[in-house]
Amino acid sequence: MTSFLGSRWPIVQAPMAYVAPPSLAAAVSEAGGLGSIAAAALSPDELLEAVREVRAATSAPFAVNVFAPPYLADGMVEAVLAARPAVFSFTFGIVDPAPLRAAGILVLGTATTAEEARALEEAGVDAVVAQGAEAGGHRGTFLRPVEESLVPLAELVPSCAAAVSVPVVAAGGLVDAADVRAALELGAAGVSAGTAFLFTPESGTPREWLAALRTYETVVTDAYTGRHARAARTPFLRSLMDGPPPLPFPEQRHAVAAMPDAERFFLGGTSAPRAHERTVAELVAEFASAFEG
Ligand SMILES: Cc1cc2nc3c(=O)[nH]c(=O)nc-3n(C[C@H](O)[C@H](O)[C@H](O)COP(=O)(O)O)c2cc1C
Repeated sequence: MTSFLGSRWPIVQAPMAYVAPPSLAAAVSEAGGLGSIAAAALSPDELLEAVREVRAATSAPFAVNVFAPPYLADGMVEAVLAARPAVFSFTFGIVDPAPLRAAGILVLGTATTAEEARALEEAGVDAVVAQGAEAGGHRGTFLRPVEESLVPLAELVPSCAAAVSVPVVAAGGLVDAADVRAALELGAAGVSAGTAFLFTPESGTPREWLAALRTYETVVTDAYTGRHARAARTPFLRSLMDGPPPLPFPEQRHAVAAMPDAERFFLGGTSAPRAHERTVAELVAEFASAFEG
């Protein structure tokens, strides 16, 4: 059985810039999901090196993910075309899918509203990733203020599925088979998860990160990077939220990192307290069971 993504199962390991290593992508693809190389923080040469690393570990398909303009590094699309991953995905806006599709690469764009899903379909993507309000990490929102674009997954998936004719991949808060089954019943053709994969040993996520996600509620704020993201509301993050308005993204991130008492930004979704520590193979098998009837 092959999913529309080319992987055994339409289960995407969400790209996670600054955290998830290429070896995680390789492990997920090898287990029958679709691993993602998060290339937003990489140079084109570093991306090509990450692609070599994944290909040395698996012959299964994988994805490469970037941030849309104006955050797209020069030469990145050319590097993706040279690397020819099976799938290319993006967030924060729209990357013209035409040259990638012409090269035989499947293109996924991130939507946080049905309006954004329509804009992505009009731009020519092959599938839309519907990022619900529960999702960990940065919001992909690009058409309206974030406050108007925090739609729970249970509303976002059916509204996107009604708005577009391309497949919809559900992202946000999915940690077990029951979550995946619910997303499929809402009209999703596939699923994407980030937080659940943070809790696999293959991700190498630091213990303090997992502990923060278990200890604190999460919150969506632009106080850390200048762009809205969901992360653990640690005392440090609360102090930033109570401070002066943030600089634009990504200058705010650099300013915060330079603070003498700076702590890490523990990105993660609302479902973190329900996530179990288990291997990539166990997690992919758990999700896959939802597709087996
Ligand atoms: C630590 C972390 C980093 C992320 N980085 C990216 C990224 O680089 N590119 C991207 O498209 N999405 C990124 N996301 C968002 C995911 O693509 C996805 O929407 C989210 O993880 C789904 O929600 P979940 O975390 O509840 O599974 C990130 C999420 C997390 C948790």
